[in-house]
Amino acid sequence: MTTARFPEGFLWGGATAANQIEGAYADGGKGLSIQDVTPQGIMFDRVAGPTADNLKLEGVDFYHRYAEDIALLAEMGFKVFRFSIAWSRIFPLGDEAEPNEEGLAFYDRVLDELEKHGIEPLITLSHYETPLHLAEKYDGWRSRDLIGFFERYARTCFERYGDRVKYWLTFNEINSVLHIPFGSGGINTPKSELPVNDLYQAIHHELVASARVTRVAHEINPELQIGCMVISMPIYPLTPNPDDAVAVMKADHANLMFSDVHTRGEYPGYAKRFFRENGIELDITEQDVEDLKHTVDFVSFSYYMSMCESGDPEVKANAAGNIMMGIPNPHLEASEWGWQIDPQGLRIVLNQFWDRWQKPLFIVENGLGAKDQLVEVDGVKTVEDDYRIAYLNDHLDQVAEAIEDGVELLGYTTWGPIDLVSASTAQLSKRYGFIYVDRNDDGSGTLERYKKKSFDWYAEVIRTRGANIVPMGAKELVSA
Ligand code: BG6
Repeated sequence: MTTARFPEGFLWGGATAANQIEGAYADGGKGLSIQDVTPQGIMFDRVAGPTADNLKLEGVDFYHRYAEDIALLAEMGFKVFRFSIAWSRIFPLGDEAEPNEEGLAFYDRVLDELEKHGIEPLITLSHYETPLHLAEKYDGWRSRDLIGFFERYARTCFERYGDRVKYWLTFNEINSVLHIPFGSGGINTPKSELPVNDLYQAIHHELVASARVTRVAHEINPELQIGCMVISMPIYPLTPNPDDAVAVMKADHANLMFSDVHTRGEYPGYAKRFFRENGIELDITEQDVEDLKHTVDFVSFSYYMSMCESGDPEVKANAAGNIMMGIPNPHLEASEWGWQIDPQGLRIVLNQFWDRWQKPLFIVENGLGAKDQLVEVDGVKTVEDDYRIAYLNDHLDQVAEAIEDGVELLGYTTWGPIDLVSASTAQLSKRYGFIYVDRNDDGSGTLERYKKKSFDWYAEVIRTRGANIVPMGAKELVSA
């Protein structure tokens, strides 16, 4: 195949989060975030304060090496770079009246560097980084007060960077709060003690905050494009039994409610039924109803895997997954961390989302977390990561198919183009990058950067707009 499979202007790039790359957790006036107290990862309980075993405190030192790192991304031809602003760099406690200038200046410098290389920024305002003080004093998003604090923070960012940053995301994987209330919603109360009513009230606060800052952004600059961001998880019935199909429908509802509200401006009927039947009574003000009407410009999502669902309560949901567990699919293989690999699921989800919302889509995370071996080839240190190339090749092949299906897609950013600390396990050995970072799970390493084999491959994908992607049907052609 020698012809381009992706349109001109397609936004190719990679995605990161502040807490997983920056390090410098206490520099430049930054306050603590909830990530500074979860040394084992966001799926685990918090500890009292920062501990030396928390790899995120130093990350991969992007805070000091951003210029060198962005130059490497530019060398691959990146058109877009997704990163998050650490809320606690801008408002160290979260509830102050005035922002921290040193924190704002850091992101000015990052943006200068991106501009120098002609790379478009895509900023996530909140990527699992609620200021710790907000978690401890207000119980995070359980409190309505957070809407105002978030609005002040978002407004500060839009006013400061709005003339040079067009694309924004409000909350990373907002639907994850159902599964990790502390990591995603900064809710300090342990999940087991959190009444379901309060969990949905917290979700409501986040949805209102997201819609309100969408309005604020458009008021400041109507050109700004604001997206929501969700975990996408295609769910298949385990068998053709209609009970399984209904179970899939319900699981979909739980996941998709968030973007249904974001795109339609109100709660869908199935959500109202769920609230009614589960005794959930939300405090929804008239202002909330008005705020929610401000819908997003586009829908973005992460995609790593699919799951199965069954109507039979005896069938166990024991397959590991991105934040959520599910029933394993006997037809799929899994990564070293048990995440089931399903490129066709990405095509399915692209079509499902496009058909459902008719809003432009943006794939803002996809990739393979794998253990890499640094080797020397012709005197140069590298990683022969054919497995990563094969994974990305097949997923991009299916993205190209979805574009053929008529899906409107703004771009594609792989997760962790430079190795970073894993969100779920806080390991560095779970690597996604095209660029290897010499840092190990015990914290040792020089932090030197090395190009992997996939570095040149992805550069070629971008340069040829996917002409080098081998169709999945001809998979045997991809070296493995
Ligand atoms: C998503 C998150 O859940 O998946 C990222 O938005 C995360 O922060 C990514 O890093 C991959 O997950 P993990 O657990 O392998 O780091």
